[in-house]
Amino acid sequence: MTPVDRDDDRRPKNGFRIALCSEVDRDGWRAHARRLLQGRVAPDQVTWTVAGRRDSDQLDLSAQTVSLPAAASHSPRPIRISRHLLALINGGLLHRNADRFDLAYRLLYRAQSVPRLHENPADADMMKLNRYAKAIRRDIHKMHAFVRFRKIGEREGREQFVAWFEPDHHITATVAPFFRKRFTGMDWLILTPQASIAWDGDRLSIGSGGSKHDLPQQDLVEAEWRTYYANIFNPARVKIAAMKSEMTLKYWKNLPEAELIPSLLERAAGRVDAMVAHGRQDAFRPADHAPLSTAEPPASLDQLYEILEQASDAPRESFSDRLVRGSGPVDARIMVIGEQPGDQEDRQGRPFVGPAGQLLDRALAEAGLDRQRLFLTNAVKRFKYRQSGKRRIHETPNAGEINYYRWWIEQEIRLVDPRLVIVLGATAARCLTGKVMKISRHRGTILPLATNRSLLITVHPSYLLRIPDAQGRQVEYAKFLRDLELAAAGVKTDGPKGGDLS
Ligand code: URA
Repeated sequence: MTPVDRDDDRRPKNGFRIALCSEVDRDGWRAHARRLLQGRVAPDQVTWTVAGRRDSDQLDLSAQTVSLPAAASHSPRPIRISRHLLALINGGLLHRNADRFDLAYRLLYRAQSVPRLHENPADADMMKLNRYAKAIRRDIHKMHAFVRFRKIGEREGREQFVAWFEPDHHITATVAPFFRKRFTGMDWLILTPQASIAWDGDRLSIGSGGSKHDLPQQDLVEAEWRTYYANIFNPARVKIAAMKSEMTLKYWKNLPEAELIPSLLERAAGRVDAMVAHGRQDAFRPADHAPLSTAEPPASLDQLYEILEQASDAPRESFSDRLVRGSGPVDARIMVIGEQPGDQEDRQGRPFVGPAGQLLDRALAEAGLDRQRLFLTNAVKRFKYRQSGKRRIHETPNAGEINYYRWWIEQEIRLVDPRLVIVLGATAARCLTGKVMKISRHRGTILPLATNRSLLITVHPSYLLRIPDAQGRQVEYAKFLRDLELAAAGVKTDGPKGGDLS
Protein backbone atom coordinates (compact mmCIF):
# COMPACT_ATOMS: atom_id res chain seq x y z
CA MET A 1 0.00 0.00 0.00
CA THR A 2 1.21 3.50 -0.76
CA PRO A 3 0.88 6.34 1.76
CA VAL A 4 -2.61 7.66 2.36
CA ASP A 5 -3.96 11.16 1.89
CA ARG A 6 -4.46 12.70 5.29
CA ASP A 7 -6.61 15.75 5.19
CA ASP A 8 -8.91 14.77 8.00
CA ASP A 9 -7.22 15.44 11.27
CA ARG A 10 -8.02 19.06 11.97
CA ARG A 11 -11.05 18.39 14.14
CA PRO A 12 -12.58 20.57 16.88
CA LYS A 13 -11.76 19.55 20.39
CA ASN A 14 -15.34 18.70 21.29
CA GLY A 15 -16.77 16.35 18.81
CA PHE A 16 -17.72 12.76 18.22
CA ARG A 17 -15.08 10.14 17.77
CA ILE A 18 -16.38 7.07 16.02
CA ALA A 19 -14.24 3.95 16.05
CA LEU A 20 -15.31 1.44 13.41
CA CYS A 21 -14.59 -2.25 13.97
CA SER A 22 -12.41 -2.70 10.90
CA GLU A 23 -11.25 -1.06 7.68
CA VAL A 24 -14.17 -2.69 5.89
CA ASP A 25 -16.84 -2.03 8.52
CA ARG A 26 -19.29 -0.50 6.10
CA ASP A 27 -22.27 -1.64 8.17
CA GLY A 28 -20.82 0.12 11.19
CA TRP A 29 -20.26 3.27 9.17
CA ARG A 30 -23.85 3.17 7.90
CA ALA A 31 -25.32 2.65 11.37
CA HIS A 32 -23.27 5.48 12.86
CA ALA A 33 -23.88 7.78 9.92
CA ARG A 34 -27.63 7.23 10.28
CA ARG A 35 -27.55 8.13 13.97
CA LEU A 36 -25.32 11.12 13.43
CA LEU A 37 -27.63 12.37 10.74
CA GLN A 38 -30.70 11.87 12.91
CA GLY A 39 -28.87 13.82 15.61
CA ARG A 40 -28.07 16.50 13.00
CA VAL A 41 -24.39 16.28 13.79
CA ALA A 42 -22.34 18.28 11.32
CA PRO A 43 -19.49 16.46 9.56
CA ASP A 44 -16.84 18.71 11.07
CA GLN A 45 -17.91 17.50 14.51
CA VAL A 46 -17.02 13.90 13.74
CA THR A 47 -13.70 12.06 13.72
CA TRP A 48 -13.81 8.63 12.13
CA THR A 49 -11.22 6.02 12.90
CA VAL A 50 -10.80 2.27 12.89
CA ALA A 51 -10.19 0.31 16.08
CA GLY A 52 -6.66 -1.03 16.14
CA ARG A 53 -5.48 1.00 13.16
CA ARG A 54 -1.81 1.81 13.65
CA ASP A 55 -2.31 5.52 13.11
CA SER A 56 -5.42 5.76 15.29
CA ASP A 57 -3.27 6.55 18.33
CA GLN A 58 -1.89 9.56 16.59
CA LEU A 59 -5.25 11.17 16.05
CA ASP A 60 -6.29 14.07 18.19
CA LEU A 61 -7.83 12.05 20.99
CA SER A 62 -9.09 15.10 22.81
CA ALA A 63 -12.14 14.77 20.61
CA GLN A 64 -14.55 13.18 23.03
CA THR A 65 -16.49 10.02 22.68
CA VAL A 66 -19.82 11.58 23.55
CA SER A 67 -23.15 9.81 23.48
CA LEU A 68 -24.90 10.76 20.37
CA PRO A 69 -28.16 12.62 20.74
CA ALA A 70 -30.90 10.02 20.85
CA ALA A 71 -32.52 9.82 17.45
CA ALA A 72 -35.92 9.88 19.14
CA SER A 73 -35.33 13.33 20.63
CA HIS A 74 -35.89 14.73 17.15
CA SER A 75 -38.73 13.55 15.02
CA PRO A 76 -36.79 11.12 12.82
CA ARG A 77 -36.25 12.59 9.40
CA PRO A 78 -36.20 10.27 6.44
CA ILE A 79 -32.66 10.08 5.11
CA ARG A 80 -32.48 11.19 1.52
CA ILE A 81 -29.88 9.74 -0.76
CA SER A 82 -29.99 8.90 -4.45
CA ARG A 83 -29.24 5.33 -5.48
CA HIS A 84 -26.35 6.62 -7.54
CA LEU A 85 -24.70 8.37 -4.59
CA LEU A 86 -25.33 5.39 -2.37
CA ALA A 87 -23.61 3.07 -4.84
CA LEU A 88 -20.63 5.42 -5.11
CA ILE A 89 -20.32 5.65 -1.33
CA ASN A 90 -20.51 1.89 -1.04
CA GLY A 91 -17.58 1.55 -3.40
CA GLY A 92 -15.65 4.55 -2.06
CA LEU A 93 -15.73 3.20 1.49
CA LEU A 94 -13.32 0.46 0.40
CA HIS A 95 -10.67 2.97 -0.63
CA ARG A 96 -7.39 2.85 1.23
CA ASN A 97 -7.35 6.56 2.08
CA ALA A 98 -8.21 7.25 5.70
CA ASP A 99 -10.43 10.21 4.84
CA ARG A 100 -13.02 8.06 3.06
CA PHE A 101 -15.42 7.72 6.03
CA ASP A 102 -15.34 11.44 6.59
CA LEU A 103 -15.86 12.19 2.91
CA ALA A 104 -18.79 9.79 2.71
CA TYR A 105 -20.48 11.27 5.77
CA ARG A 106 -19.95 14.81 4.50
CA LEU A 107 -21.62 13.92 1.22
CA LEU A 108 -24.47 12.14 2.95
CA TYR A 109 -24.98 15.14 5.20
CA ARG A 110 -24.87 17.62 2.32
CA ALA A 111 -27.20 15.47 0.19
CA GLN A 112 -29.99 16.10 2.72
CA SER A 113 -30.20 19.73 1.64
CA VAL A 114 -28.87 19.31 -1.92
CA PRO A 115 -30.69 16.27 -3.29
CA ARG A 116 -29.07 16.45 -6.73
CA LEU A 117 -25.57 16.86 -5.35
CA HIS A 118 -24.41 13.71 -7.14
CA GLU A 119 -25.20 15.33 -10.51
CA ASN A 120 -22.72 18.15 -9.99
CA PRO A 121 -19.51 17.02 -11.70
CA ALA A 122 -17.62 20.08 -10.43
CA ASP A 123 -18.31 19.52 -6.74
CA ALA A 124 -14.96 18.80 -5.06
CA ASP A 125 -16.35 16.12 -2.72
CA MET A 126 -18.18 14.40 -5.56
CA MET A 127 -15.07 14.48 -7.70
CA LYS A 128 -13.10 12.82 -4.95
CA LEU A 129 -15.75 10.20 -4.30
CA ASN A 130 -15.99 9.43 -8.02
CA ARG A 131 -12.22 9.00 -8.08
CA TYR A 132 -12.35 6.65 -5.12
CA ALA A 133 -15.20 4.58 -6.54
CA LYS A 134 -13.44 4.30 -9.88
CA ALA A 135 -10.22 3.16 -8.23
CA ILE A 136 -12.18 0.45 -6.45
CA ARG A 137 -13.81 -0.80 -9.65
CA ARG A 138 -10.40 -0.97 -11.27
CA ASP A 139 -8.84 -2.79 -8.33
CA ILE A 140 -11.65 -5.35 -8.32
CA HIS A 141 -11.21 -5.87 -12.05
CA LYS A 142 -7.49 -6.46 -11.55
CA MET A 143 -8.01 -8.94 -8.77
CA HIS A 144 -10.55 -10.87 -10.86
CA ALA A 145 -8.11 -10.98 -13.74
CA PHE A 146 -4.72 -11.51 -12.14
CA VAL A 147 -5.12 -13.90 -9.24
CA ARG A 148 -3.20 -17.09 -10.12
CA PHE A 149 -3.74 -20.19 -8.03
CA ARG A 150 -0.96 -22.61 -7.19
CA LYS A 151 -1.91 -26.18 -6.47
CA ILE A 152 -0.63 -27.40 -3.12
CA GLY A 153 -2.22 -30.82 -2.86
CA GLU A 154 -5.48 -32.71 -2.44
CA ARG A 155 -7.72 -33.46 0.49
CA GLU A 156 -10.59 -35.95 0.42
CA GLY A 157 -10.65 -35.92 -3.35
CA ARG A 158 -10.69 -32.13 -3.63
CA GLU A 159 -7.79 -30.24 -5.11
CA GLN A 160 -6.38 -27.46 -2.97
CA PHE A 161 -5.01 -24.19 -4.26
CA VAL A 162 -3.52 -21.04 -2.84
CA ALA A 163 -2.91 -17.62 -4.34
CA TRP A 164 -1.14 -14.48 -3.27
CA PHE A 165 -2.42 -11.06 -4.33
CA GLU A 166 -1.77 -7.44 -3.35
CA PRO A 167 -4.83 -5.28 -3.95
CA ASP A 168 -4.46 -1.54 -3.59
CA HIS A 169 -7.66 -1.15 -1.57
CA HIS A 170 -9.78 -3.02 0.95
CA ILE A 171 -11.55 -5.18 -1.63
CA THR A 172 -10.60 -8.72 -0.65
CA ALA A 173 -13.88 -9.66 1.04
CA THR A 174 -15.86 -8.02 -1.76
CA VAL A 175 -14.36 -10.24 -4.45
CA ALA A 176 -14.88 -13.48 -2.49
CA PRO A 177 -18.26 -14.36 -4.09
CA PHE A 178 -16.74 -13.96 -7.56
CA PHE A 179 -14.07 -16.56 -6.80
CA ARG A 180 -16.52 -18.89 -5.11
CA LYS A 181 -18.70 -18.87 -8.23
CA ARG A 182 -15.75 -19.32 -10.58
CA PHE A 183 -13.83 -21.95 -8.64
CA THR A 184 -16.56 -23.72 -6.80
CA GLY A 185 -15.19 -27.23 -7.44
CA MET A 186 -11.88 -26.80 -5.66
CA ASP A 187 -10.65 -25.67 -2.25
CA TRP A 188 -8.79 -22.41 -2.31
CA LEU A 189 -7.26 -19.72 -0.19
CA ILE A 190 -6.38 -16.24 -1.39
CA LEU A 191 -4.00 -14.40 0.87
CA THR A 192 -3.46 -10.65 0.72
CA PRO A 193 -1.58 -8.36 3.10
CA GLN A 194 -4.82 -7.16 4.72
CA ALA A 195 -7.14 -10.17 4.64
CA SER A 196 -7.57 -13.70 3.39
CA ILE A 197 -10.53 -15.48 1.89
CA ALA A 198 -11.02 -19.22 1.67
CA TRP A 199 -13.52 -21.67 0.21
CA ASP A 200 -13.82 -25.32 1.18
CA GLY A 201 -16.72 -26.32 -1.06
CA ASP A 202 -19.16 -25.48 1.66
CA ARG A 203 -18.19 -22.32 3.44
CA LEU A 204 -16.62 -19.05 2.42
CA SER A 205 -14.49 -17.64 5.21
CA ILE A 206 -12.72 -14.38 5.70
CA GLY A 207 -9.62 -14.17 7.87
CA SER A 208 -6.65 -12.00 8.58
CA GLY A 209 -3.97 -11.05 6.08
CA GLY A 210 -0.43 -12.30 5.85
CA SER A 211 2.74 -12.41 3.85
CA LYS A 212 3.52 -14.21 0.63
CA HIS A 213 6.02 -16.31 2.55
CA ASP A 214 3.23 -17.75 4.68
CA LEU A 215 2.11 -19.79 1.66
CA PRO A 216 3.55 -23.14 0.65
CA GLN A 217 5.89 -22.57 -2.29
CA GLN A 218 5.33 -25.91 -3.99
CA ASP A 219 3.36 -25.73 -7.22
CA LEU A 220 2.05 -28.76 -9.01
CA VAL A 221 0.23 -27.09 -11.86
CA GLU A 222 2.36 -24.16 -12.87
CA ALA A 223 3.98 -26.13 -15.69
CA GLU A 224 0.57 -27.10 -17.07
CA TRP A 225 -0.54 -23.50 -16.86
CA ARG A 226 2.49 -22.33 -18.82
CA THR A 227 1.85 -24.90 -21.55
CA TYR A 228 -1.74 -23.74 -21.74
CA TYR A 229 -0.69 -20.10 -21.93
CA ALA A 230 1.89 -20.80 -24.64
CA ASN A 231 -0.87 -22.42 -26.70
CA ILE A 232 -3.41 -19.66 -26.33
CA PHE A 233 -0.86 -16.86 -26.64
CA ASN A 234 -1.96 -14.56 -29.45
CA PRO A 235 1.03 -12.59 -30.72
CA ALA A 236 -1.16 -10.29 -32.84
CA ARG A 237 -2.70 -8.89 -29.70
CA VAL A 238 0.39 -8.32 -27.66
CA LYS A 239 1.03 -4.70 -26.86
CA ILE A 240 3.65 -4.62 -24.20
CA ALA A 241 3.12 -0.97 -23.27
CA ALA A 242 -0.62 -1.45 -22.93
CA MET A 243 -0.11 -4.64 -20.95
CA LYS A 244 2.20 -2.87 -18.55
CA SER A 245 -0.19 -0.02 -18.00
CA GLU A 246 -3.10 -2.39 -17.42
CA MET A 247 -1.11 -4.92 -15.46
CA THR A 248 1.58 -3.10 -13.51
CA LEU A 249 4.79 -4.94 -12.77
CA LYS A 250 3.47 -5.62 -9.30
CA TYR A 251 1.07 -8.16 -10.86
CA TRP A 252 3.46 -9.50 -13.47
CA LYS A 253 5.83 -10.84 -10.90
CA ASN A 254 3.17 -13.21 -9.58
CA LEU A 255 2.10 -14.54 -12.97
CA PRO A 256 3.77 -17.78 -14.03
CA GLU A 257 3.12 -17.02 -17.70
CA ALA A 258 4.90 -13.63 -17.63
CA GLU A 259 8.29 -15.32 -17.90
CA LEU A 260 7.25 -16.90 -21.16
CA ILE A 261 6.33 -13.70 -22.96
CA PRO A 262 9.81 -12.65 -24.18
CA SER A 263 10.54 -15.99 -25.83
CA LEU A 264 7.04 -16.22 -27.30
CA LEU A 265 7.42 -12.75 -28.75
CA GLU A 266 10.61 -13.76 -30.52
CA ARG A 267 8.65 -16.37 -32.41
CA ALA A 268 5.63 -14.10 -32.83
CA ALA A 269 6.32 -12.42 -36.17
CA GLY A 270 5.90 -15.62 -38.18
CA ARG A 271 2.78 -16.51 -36.30
CA VAL A 272 1.19 -13.12 -36.98
CA ASP A 273 1.69 -13.57 -40.74
CA ALA A 274 0.17 -17.01 -40.56
CA MET A 275 -2.79 -15.65 -38.64
CA VAL A 276 -3.34 -12.82 -41.11
CA ALA A 277 -3.31 -15.25 -44.03
CA HIS A 278 -5.72 -17.51 -42.21
CA GLY A 279 -7.91 -14.56 -41.23
CA ARG A 280 -8.68 -13.78 -44.88
CA GLN A 281 -10.73 -16.93 -45.19
CA ASP A 282 -12.16 -16.50 -41.75
CA ALA A 283 -14.50 -13.57 -42.38
CA PHE A 284 -16.39 -13.10 -39.12
CA ARG A 285 -14.70 -14.72 -36.23
CA PRO A 286 -16.81 -15.02 -33.10
CA ALA A 287 -15.48 -13.42 -29.90
CA ASP A 288 -12.68 -15.53 -28.46
CA HIS A 289 -14.20 -15.98 -25.07
CA ALA A 290 -16.92 -14.89 -22.72
CA PRO A 291 -15.92 -12.02 -20.48
CA LEU A 292 -14.96 -12.65 -16.88
CA SER A 293 -18.24 -11.29 -15.66
CA THR A 294 -20.41 -14.11 -16.88
CA ALA A 295 -20.09 -17.83 -16.93
CA GLU A 296 -23.06 -18.64 -19.18
CA PRO A 297 -24.86 -17.04 -22.11
CA PRO A 298 -27.77 -15.00 -20.74
CA ALA A 299 -31.28 -16.30 -21.34
CA SER A 300 -32.94 -12.96 -22.07
CA LEU A 301 -32.06 -9.43 -23.06
CA ASP A 302 -32.92 -8.17 -19.58
CA GLN A 303 -30.55 -10.68 -18.08
CA LEU A 304 -27.86 -9.74 -20.55
CA TYR A 305 -28.11 -6.05 -19.70
CA GLU A 306 -28.29 -6.73 -15.97
CA ILE A 307 -25.10 -8.79 -16.05
CA LEU A 308 -23.39 -6.19 -18.17
CA GLU A 309 -24.49 -3.41 -15.83
CA GLN A 310 -22.74 -5.17 -12.97
CA ALA A 311 -19.74 -6.42 -14.95
CA SER A 312 -16.64 -5.32 -13.11
CA ASP A 313 -14.40 -6.16 -16.05
CA ALA A 314 -16.19 -3.75 -18.41
CA PRO A 315 -14.18 -0.71 -19.52
CA ARG A 316 -15.10 2.21 -17.26
CA GLU A 317 -12.33 4.79 -17.61
CA SER A 318 -13.77 7.88 -19.38
CA PHE A 319 -17.18 6.21 -19.67
CA SER A 320 -20.45 7.29 -18.16
CA ASP A 321 -21.74 4.88 -15.53
CA ARG A 322 -25.05 4.48 -17.29
CA LEU A 323 -25.51 1.51 -19.57
CA VAL A 324 -27.86 2.31 -22.45
CA ARG A 325 -29.86 -0.77 -23.32
CA GLY A 326 -31.03 -1.67 -26.81
CA SER A 327 -34.59 -0.74 -27.62
CA GLY A 328 -37.32 -2.14 -29.86
CA PRO A 329 -39.28 -5.37 -30.31
CA VAL A 330 -37.29 -8.35 -29.09
CA ASP A 331 -38.35 -10.30 -32.16
CA ALA A 332 -37.46 -7.59 -34.67
CA ARG A 333 -36.37 -8.70 -38.12
CA ILE A 334 -33.88 -5.89 -38.45
CA MET A 335 -31.36 -4.87 -35.86
CA VAL A 336 -29.49 -1.58 -36.21
CA ILE A 337 -26.16 -1.23 -34.40
CA GLY A 338 -24.59 2.17 -33.75
CA GLU A 339 -21.26 3.05 -32.21
CA GLN A 340 -22.07 4.08 -28.64
CA PRO A 341 -24.66 6.27 -26.89
CA GLY A 342 -24.09 10.01 -27.19
CA ASP A 343 -24.72 12.71 -24.62
CA GLN A 344 -28.50 12.72 -25.15
CA GLU A 345 -28.77 8.95 -25.20
CA ASP A 346 -26.83 8.78 -21.96
CA ARG A 347 -29.11 11.33 -20.31
CA GLN A 348 -32.31 9.68 -21.54
CA GLY A 349 -31.16 6.06 -21.32
CA ARG A 350 -32.31 5.21 -24.86
CA PRO A 351 -30.35 4.73 -28.08
CA PHE A 352 -30.55 7.16 -30.99
CA VAL A 353 -32.55 9.99 -29.45
CA GLY A 354 -30.02 12.80 -30.11
CA PRO A 355 -29.14 14.58 -33.36
CA ALA A 356 -27.70 11.48 -35.08
CA GLY A 357 -30.82 9.57 -34.02
CA GLN A 358 -33.08 12.21 -35.55
CA LEU A 359 -31.24 11.99 -38.83
CA LEU A 360 -31.46 8.21 -38.70
CA ASP A 361 -35.22 8.45 -38.05
CA ARG A 362 -35.68 10.63 -41.07
CA ALA A 363 -33.65 8.33 -43.33
CA LEU A 364 -35.39 5.19 -42.05
CA ALA A 365 -38.78 6.74 -42.74
CA GLU A 366 -37.75 7.83 -46.21
CA ALA A 367 -36.41 4.36 -46.95
CA GLY A 368 -39.76 2.88 -45.88
CA LEU A 369 -38.52 1.34 -42.63
CA ASP A 370 -40.63 1.77 -39.51
CA ARG A 371 -38.37 2.53 -36.54
CA GLN A 372 -40.94 1.03 -34.17
CA ARG A 373 -40.37 -2.35 -35.78
CA LEU A 374 -36.58 -2.28 -35.58
CA PHE A 375 -34.32 -3.16 -32.69
CA LEU A 376 -31.82 -0.35 -32.16
CA THR A 377 -28.72 -0.77 -30.09
CA ASN A 378 -25.06 0.19 -29.83
CA ALA A 379 -21.85 -1.78 -30.06
CA VAL A 380 -20.34 -0.07 -27.02
CA LYS A 381 -23.04 0.35 -24.42
CA ARG A 382 -21.76 3.30 -22.44
CA PHE A 383 -20.99 6.88 -23.45
CA LYS A 384 -17.27 7.57 -23.67
CA TYR A 385 -16.54 11.24 -23.32
CA ARG A 386 -14.20 13.96 -22.14
CA GLN A 387 -15.46 16.87 -20.07
CA SER A 388 -14.90 20.31 -21.53
CA GLY A 389 -16.44 22.92 -19.25
CA LYS A 390 -20.09 22.00 -19.06
CA ARG A 391 -19.99 19.95 -22.24
CA ARG A 392 -19.32 16.27 -22.57
CA ILE A 393 -17.40 15.66 -25.76
CA HIS A 394 -17.70 12.32 -27.53
CA GLU A 395 -14.57 10.16 -27.49
CA THR A 396 -14.13 7.25 -29.86
CA PRO A 397 -13.76 3.93 -28.03
CA ASN A 398 -10.41 2.23 -28.55
CA ALA A 399 -9.81 -1.26 -29.94
CA GLY A 400 -9.72 -2.93 -26.53
CA GLU A 401 -12.99 -1.31 -25.49
CA ILE A 402 -14.68 -2.28 -28.76
CA ASN A 403 -13.38 -5.79 -28.46
CA TYR A 404 -14.71 -6.09 -24.94
CA TYR A 405 -18.25 -5.64 -26.27
CA ARG A 406 -17.94 -8.25 -29.05
CA TRP A 407 -19.21 -11.10 -26.98
CA TRP A 408 -22.11 -8.97 -25.72
CA ILE A 409 -23.22 -7.86 -29.15
CA GLU A 410 -23.12 -11.47 -30.35
CA GLN A 411 -25.38 -12.41 -27.45
CA GLU A 412 -27.73 -9.53 -28.21
CA ILE A 413 -27.99 -10.69 -31.82
CA ARG A 414 -28.57 -14.28 -30.72
CA LEU A 415 -31.40 -13.18 -28.42
CA VAL A 416 -33.16 -10.87 -30.91
CA ASP A 417 -32.39 -13.22 -33.78
CA PRO A 418 -32.88 -10.68 -36.61
CA ARG A 419 -32.77 -11.57 -40.30
CA LEU A 420 -30.67 -8.53 -41.09
CA VAL A 421 -28.15 -6.61 -39.03
CA ILE A 422 -27.45 -3.05 -40.17
CA VAL A 423 -24.16 -1.81 -38.91
CA LEU A 424 -23.63 1.96 -38.77
CA GLY A 425 -20.01 3.01 -39.00
CA ALA A 426 -16.57 1.59 -38.36
CA THR A 427 -16.82 0.98 -34.61
CA ALA A 428 -19.93 -1.17 -34.89
CA ALA A 429 -18.46 -3.01 -37.89
CA ARG A 430 -15.31 -3.75 -35.96
CA CYS A 431 -17.23 -4.85 -32.90
CA LEU A 432 -19.29 -7.27 -34.90
CA THR A 433 -16.66 -8.69 -37.21
CA GLY A 434 -13.54 -8.38 -35.07
CA LYS A 435 -11.82 -6.58 -37.95
CA VAL A 436 -11.14 -3.12 -39.21
CA MET A 437 -13.68 -2.82 -42.05
CA LYS A 438 -13.45 -0.19 -44.74
CA ILE A 439 -17.01 1.10 -44.97
CA SER A 440 -16.67 2.39 -48.55
CA ARG A 441 -15.54 -1.06 -49.68
CA HIS A 442 -18.35 -3.01 -48.08
CA ARG A 443 -21.36 -0.73 -48.19
CA GLY A 444 -24.19 -1.28 -50.63
CA THR A 445 -23.93 -5.08 -50.55
CA ILE A 446 -25.77 -7.55 -48.42
CA LEU A 447 -23.17 -9.83 -46.83
CA PRO A 448 -23.77 -13.22 -45.25
CA LEU A 449 -23.40 -13.16 -41.48
CA ALA A 450 -24.63 -16.57 -40.41
CA THR A 451 -27.19 -19.11 -41.54
CA ASN A 452 -30.32 -17.19 -42.27
CA ARG A 453 -28.84 -13.88 -41.19
CA SER A 454 -27.31 -11.08 -43.26
CA LEU A 455 -25.27 -8.00 -42.69
CA LEU A 456 -25.40 -4.56 -44.24
CA ILE A 457 -22.63 -2.13 -43.47
CA THR A 458 -23.12 1.58 -44.00
CA VAL A 459 -21.97 4.90 -42.63
CA HIS A 460 -22.92 6.34 -39.27
CA PRO A 461 -25.44 9.22 -39.40
CA SER A 462 -23.10 11.37 -37.30
CA TYR A 463 -20.61 11.17 -40.16
CA LEU A 464 -23.26 12.87 -42.34
CA LEU A 465 -23.79 15.54 -39.69
CA ARG A 466 -20.09 16.35 -39.70
CA ILE A 467 -19.82 16.99 -43.46
CA PRO A 468 -19.29 20.76 -43.64
CA ASP A 469 -20.76 21.62 -47.05
CA ALA A 470 -24.42 21.21 -47.82
CA GLN A 471 -23.88 19.66 -51.22
CA GLY A 472 -21.46 17.02 -49.93
CA ARG A 473 -23.92 16.24 -47.16
CA GLN A 474 -26.74 15.78 -49.67
CA VAL A 475 -24.72 13.39 -51.80
CA GLU A 476 -23.71 11.30 -48.81
CA TYR A 477 -27.22 11.31 -47.42
CA ALA A 478 -28.53 9.97 -50.74
CA LYS A 479 -26.00 7.11 -50.59
CA PHE A 480 -27.01 6.36 -47.00
CA LEU A 481 -30.64 6.29 -48.08
CA ARG A 482 -29.84 3.85 -50.90
CA ASP A 483 -28.22 1.50 -48.38
CA LEU A 484 -31.27 1.62 -46.15
CA GLU A 485 -33.57 1.09 -49.15
CA LEU A 486 -31.60 -2.03 -49.94
CA ALA A 487 -32.35 -3.25 -46.42
CA ALA A 488 -36.03 -2.37 -46.77
CA ALA A 489 -36.24 -4.23 -50.06
CA GLY A 490 -34.60 -7.32 -48.63
CA VAL A 491 -36.53 -7.70 -45.39
CA LYS A 492 -40.20 -7.36 -44.62
CA THR A 493 -40.50 -5.92 -41.14
CA ASP A 494 -43.80 -7.59 -40.31
CA GLY A 495 -45.33 -11.07 -40.56
CA PRO A 496 -43.58 -14.27 -39.48
CA LYS A 497 -39.82 -14.34 -39.78
CA GLY A 498 -38.65 -16.09 -42.90
CA GLY A 499 -35.44 -16.24 -44.80
CA ASP A 500 -36.05 -12.97 -46.64
CA LEU A 501 -32.57 -12.27 -47.84
CA SER A 502 -31.29 -15.76 -48.24
N1 URA B 1 -24.71 7.44 -32.05
C1 URA B 1 -24.74 6.09 -31.87
O1 URA B 1 -23.95 5.36 -32.42
N2 URA B 1 -25.67 5.60 -31.07
C2 URA B 1 -26.56 6.34 -30.45
O2 URA B 1 -27.36 5.77 -29.71
C3 URA B 1 -26.52 7.73 -30.68
C4 URA B 1 -25.58 8.26 -31.47
